[in-house]
Amino acid sequence: MLLATCGNSSPRVLLLQPLDAPAGIQKACQLAEVRCSSCHTLERITNAAHRNEVEWRRQVEKMRLIPASGISIADAEVIVTCLVYRDPSLPAPPLEQPPAMP
Ligand code: HEC
Repeated sequence: MLLATCGNSSPRVLLLQPLDAPAGIQKACQLAEVRCSSCHTLERITNAAHRNEVEWRRQVEKMRLIPASGISIADAEVIVTCLVYRDPSLPAPPLEQPPAMP
């Protein structure tokens, strides 16, 4: 009896990238998958509350600053493009707030 057949049934690592994403996003998400799964599972990200670009940037920065995160500044930039692409639910806020209507 051979139980150790090679693993079609083994669970696939959760992927961040949408399958229809442009190549650049796919690459960014591949990097995110590597860099962001060393401390916790990617479910931490897929289950996270929706964030806009500013918030994702802040979150990635927070993760990057944990000692031994292995995330460089350049990595963080790339990773943010993936996370924002995946999470278009919130529009990026304008950098400067328009003056309030009277
Ligand atoms: C060095 C270890 C480490 C790495 C690498 C890391 N994280 Fe985390 N992450 C943590 C820890 C510890 C927590 C829980 C503490 C917290 O919430 O601040 C956490 C929590 C989170 C949360 C949940 C927090 C919330 O408020 O929703 C998200 C989302 C997240 N990480 C995203 C990421 C992303 C995106 C990356 C890749 C850029 C990443 N993490 C890489 C350690 C890490």
